[in-house]
Amino acid sequence: MLNFDFYNPTQVLFGQGQIAALSKLVPANARVLLVYGGGSIKQNGVYSEVLAALAGHHVSEFSGVEPNPSYETLMRAIEQVKAEKIDFLLAVGGGSVIDGAKFIAAGALLADDPWTILEKYGSNVSEAMDLGVILTLPATGSETNASSVVTRKSTQEKFAFMSRKVFPKFAILDPSKTYSLPARQVGNGVVDAFAHVMEQYMTYPVGAKVQDRFAEGILLTLIEEGPRALSAPDDYQVRANVMWCATLALNGLIGAGVPQDWATHMIGHELTALYNLDHAQTLAVVMPSMLRQRKDAKRAKLLQFAERVWDIRDGSEDERIEAAIARMQAFFEQMGVKTRLADYQLGAGHLDAVLGNLEKHRYTKLGEHRDVSLEVSRKVLEASL
Ligand code: NZQ
Ligand code: ZN
Repeated sequence: MLNFDFYNPTQVLFGQGQIAALSKLVPANARVLLVYGGGSIKQNGVYSEVLAALAGHHVSEFSGVEPNPSYETLMRAIEQVKAEKIDFLLAVGGGSVIDGAKFIAAGALLADDPWTILEKYGSNVSEAMDLGVILTLPATGSETNASSVVTRKSTQEKFAFMSRKVFPKFAILDPSKTYSLPARQVGNGVVDAFAHVMEQYMTYPVGAKVQDRFAEGILLTLIEEGPRALSAPDDYQVRANVMWCATLALNGLIGAGVPQDWATHMIGHELTALYNLDHAQTLAVVMPSMLRQRKDAKRAKLLQFAERVWDIRDGSEDERIEAAIARMQAFFEQMGVKTRLADYQLGAGHLDAVLGNLEKHRYTKLGEHRDVSLEVSRKVLEASL
């Protein structure tokens, strides 16, 4: 196992009815900004529950944080924070709203242009506003991690940053609030969580037995419960298991002390920035080809994945590896997330722009061995057509 420093200060309140705890979690004298997206929280009752729990608090609102939240929109929120002397952010929504609120939390206290936070991967964040989260879409893990991804629309750049200062103080996870998700977002969430596990698990063995088995447990649970979330959308236990999987997939636990990859995510972010695919759609397209392309470097873990996750024991090594990748790809399709670029009307003519941006952003040595060069990325994308 590699050396590691594990830190996760976010308090999790999990289960039906937990939104009521807001009244105690948010300081009585706080000036709160409720940050949310396009309005799903008004249709499913979350908005009124939040306001009821915060009766007696000072609450303002900022709505309209879009999927793949934009710098342009979030800068308007930062202006509002300053004008209204807001000192507590409450993000209510999916990963985009939470990521957006993290950017607001850090950007509002920065003297420089907040975009520099993305350019410097968060290294210039020395303080951030207090942030609490109510999660409505299990997918990104943003509710209990220190990462955020923001897009600058004008330049078509989608960058991540990380800072311990933006860990949410608390995260409320009520699985019944996910009943209202459209099937597309249920599928996206399961695929994103699956991909997060793979980015931390599918590298090379370092003897991290418990991390491996936690990772495999999350994958097996997603494979079992993901399709049920589509076929039995009102089943509380199914929703609860999917929600906890997504959080555990990226709260730092399974990634502690192991090598990490993230090449699929980096290429995926460029695809979203240029062609507006949903985040999980990019992962479903890139990950199968990425694993096939790098199967020699990942051979030991791919064989472990085949045996322990898919129960594949027969055939040559290469046959078992291909069977496992094919099963994973079929699972993404089963979740309703298409796995070829052509499914999103993208062809060979779209690849140069993606590779050009990878080069411009210096994503030319990706992966756990830093051997995913532009040439490798090109082969992966060509195999995903
Ligand atoms: O905007 P509203 O009206 O709320 O609707 C949203 C949005 O249209 C809707 N939705 C959310 N909860 C709902 C609901 N609709 C009905 N019922 C509910 N309960 O779902 C749509 C998509 O929401 P979004 O927040 O964009 O999805 P997701 O949670 O998948 O977040 C994606 C963003 O997170 C980033 C992605 O790059 C992308 O920008 N990521 C963040 C990470 C992190 N912070 O650690 C890691 C990930 O790898 C990822 O990159
Ligand atoms: Zn992701």
